[in-house]
Amino acid sequence: MADKDKVFIFDTTMRDGEQSPGASMSLEEKIQISRVFDELGIDIIEAGFPIASPGDFEAVSAISKVLKKSIPCGLARHSKKDIDRCYEALKHAPRFRIHTFISTSPLHMKHKLNKTPEQVYDSIKEHVTYARNLTDDVEWSCEDGTRTDMDYMCKTVELAIKSGAKTINIPDTVGYTVPSEFTKIIETLLNKVPNIDKAILSTHCHNDLGLAVANSLAGIQAGARQIECTINGIGERAGNAALEEVVMAIRTRNDLMPYETGINTTLLSKASKLVSNVTGFPVQFNKAIVGKNAFAHESGIHQDGMLKNRNTYEIMTPESVGVKQTSLVMGKHSGRHAFKDKLISLGYADLTDDVIENAFGKFKVLADKKKHIYDEDIIALVDDSLVLDNKANNLVLKSLKVFAGTGEPQKADMTLDVNGQIKSATETGDGPVDAIFKCIKSLYPHDVNLQLYQVHAVTEGTDAQATVSVRIEENGKTTVGQAADTDTLVASANAYIAALNKMILKREKTAPMMEQQEEKMRGI
Ligand code: KIV
Ligand code: ZN
Repeated sequence: MADKDKVFIFDTTMRDGEQSPGASMSLEEKIQISRVFDELGIDIIEAGFPIASPGDFEAVSAISKVLKKSIPCGLARHSKKDIDRCYEALKHAPRFRIHTFISTSPLHMKHKLNKTPEQVYDSIKEHVTYARNLTDDVEWSCEDGTRTDMDYMCKTVELAIKSGAKTINIPDTVGYTVPSEFTKIIETLLNKVPNIDKAILSTHCHNDLGLAVANSLAGIQAGARQIECTINGIGERAGNAALEEVVMAIRTRNDLMPYETGINTTLLSKASKLVSNVTGFPVQFNKAIVGKNAFAHESGIHQDGMLKNRNTYEIMTPESVGVKQTSLVMGKHSGRHAFKDKLISLGYADLTDDVIENAFGKFKVLADKKKHIYDEDIIALVDDSLVLDNKANNLVLKSLKVFAGTGEPQKADMTLDVNGQIKSATETGDGPVDAIFKCIKSLYPHDVNLQLYQVHAVTEGTDAQATVSVRIEENGKTTVGQAADTDTLVASANAYIAALNKMILKREKTAPMMEQQEEKMRGI
């Protein structure tokens, strides 16, 4: 494969994606995601914005230590403090990238930065050079690039490359451009910037007009060779270009876009589910590539065509993105060894013994309750074990009884382990879930806003497991808890408790001074 045919995939799920209102990920979840992304074959992983908070710093640092193939990257504004913090977080990795950015559009320079174009120009030389002295892998972005004067952009890009940037990223920060215009921007840079051959051009398209993927592909066809994107397209406002869509478009229409990414597409479905679980953002049913209905054929004519020849209505196979036929997997007589083999076949090759043991225990309990156990059930159990079995958990559900139905007010009896103390409470509520959440509140008094409560059936049938997601908010910080159980109410209690445990951890880890700093930083 000649170099010019390689399109680098730069994932920013844990940086731009985490900037989606309500999407927050704990350190453990980010590490779990990073491992899957590494396996997926993502070239560069933007793990966070280290100066934004101690949590971001810690996450970038931890991720840079676990990645085996992907290059870790951190974001920094044009400020030596930002760049130093980024370097400190990344320096343990054998290779890492510092991504520094400044706005170049007249609107942003005047109203956001209060700087003249000359001042911004001078800042590029100073800060890209500074970053380059810390690593030879520097990426520079001209924020609000698609609303920047083209001659000015050419000058700034030339200077950034001269100062040491090896990747030049052109963000469509507000999702304003259209494919024909973005093509022109990339072509102009390639034709007019004299040293452009010394850098790779990159796209970073937001989806405000629903054009992020189309614009990214237009950029690639015009000569860019890196796409910045996120799993499920999460990100600021309407999100970023969806990784799974750009990758599958390049793969499926390779006749028109003869490029290669290093992505193992059979892991796309797993990555999508993981990001959705962790953020609590559901994937819409008709979402391209990873939606529940993306490969479902409902109409009789389509089904008939599919039976005769799959190509009639299928442009890519479900298997190519990791969607397997729902398969009956195991029963209550299956042993530990078979269970472990099954986990490996589902892509969980490097789980710790503790997690496997915990998931196996849950599998045995489930097998007693549920007649048929499918791959999806096993995946839900493992994800649940990864999220819930944190030894540092402050709150653990010991028992729950719920009285629901017509007539009587709904009531919950709960016993909870609160920091090692066993406590019980009974509460009535406006529905069983309300009664459960009130019990938790009376046993562990707290004041958070419930932002999201969501239930999904893992498989078909009335005995299916339910996965419940709960998102809570406290002083601008959000956490998501998830749990699966055949009993929706037990899953609801565990999901709420998981969200609270994460919030407690977040409180402990964020010093008050840094909190203020974080809020300021998030205003980028
Ligand atoms: O959208 C944007 O402009 C960004 C930059 C920080 C690259 O996310
Ligand atoms: Zn962005």
